[in-house]
Amino acid sequence: EELKELVSKLYSTHHLEKGEYVSLIENRDAVRDYLFELSRSVREKYYGKDVYIRGLIEFTDYCKNDCYYCGIRCSNKQAERYRLSKEQILDCCKTGYELGFRTFVLQGGEDPYYSDDMICDIVCSIKRDFPDCAVTLSIGEKSEESYRRYFESGADRYLLRHETADYEHYSKLHPPGLSAKHRQDCLRTLKKIGYQTGAGFMVGSPYQTAENLADDMLFLEELKPEMVGIGPFIPHHATPFADKPQGTAELTLFMLGLVRLALPDVLLPATTAIGTIHPTGRELALKAGANVVMPNLSPTDVRKKYLLYDNKICTGDESAQCRMCLQKRVEDAGYRIVESRGDHASFNERK
Ligand code: 5AD
Ligand code: FES
Repeated sequence: EELKELVSKLYSTHHLEKGEYVSLIENRDAVRDYLFELSRSVREKYYGKDVYIRGLIEFTDYCKNDCYYCGIRCSNKQAERYRLSKEQILDCCKTGYELGFRTFVLQGGEDPYYSDDMICDIVCSIKRDFPDCAVTLSIGEKSEESYRRYFESGADRYLLRHETADYEHYSKLHPPGLSAKHRQDCLRTLKKIGYQTGAGFMVGSPYQTAENLADDMLFLEELKPEMVGIGPFIPHHATPFADKPQGTAELTLFMLGLVRLALPDVLLPATTAIGTIHPTGRELALKAGANVVMPNLSPTDVRKKYLLYDNKICTGDESAQCRMCLQKRVEDAGYRIVESRGDHASFNERK
């Protein structure tokens, strides 16, 4: 009953102390149903039954970084590397537009081949050809100057998961040279510039503790991002973490519920990763408080190459197939896809 009170407190104040988050996470079996009851009602208060869709374009799997968990890390010599041209990216957008997408997410490894001029040119071209669409970038850590240039070219949103808020835990997942502090500074810069900003973390990553997850919650409370991406860690066979255990759908869903209560109007995707480890993972995520899905719009021939982890779903399907498949899954879960940009509530007011 004390635990239920903690959930009620989070529901009404959007804040818990670190120890309170730890108790909830450690004793989650006792409060899961109550948490989901509240997280679903909050989700429905802000977004009703609506689910926003984003067309994900994985435009390069070259990456200069070497994160221990990631399948496209530069040391993985087995990865088949590819890059999409501006024309190929615009073709994906055209296909996506016809399928009802009004947000395009350009995601890639940190690939120095694409200069700031090229990124700006790609963003401008998408905004010129599809003026009623939002563009989201997900291309890693860049300078403030670069972030400003992309924004001025028309980029609306930026995804940069913080991965884990704890500095020490971060250093166990990344080689020296990458720091949690720099990543968090990037997120604050993105917010300051005016992007709808997405943070997020993996659940069940190696060495993660309940304290680490509590720190992730406190970091989100402080940053107040407009979007939060959460998925289970899934091992990739050609990385140093090949033999580490996978994160669970159960804990991932619980964390989605907590985030929905801490940031009531946040844009919260049901990720491909949770769909990969559980046959109805994305549907369950929607019921736990998620309100966004991000199907793949990448050309079919490159999909099998952009592999951050093993057994990724949707790698064999056409964009139209993914769109139809999701429609059915969303409807089976009791929700409906809406074909709009799907901005964060606070950005609709600003316009
Ligand atoms: N398992 C789950 N998620 C992963 N990511 C990268 N590698 C893995 C993995 N092995 C996530 C990271 C990154 C996002 C694009 O994908 O959180 O930010
Ligand atoms: Fe690039 Fe992991 S190696 S995101």
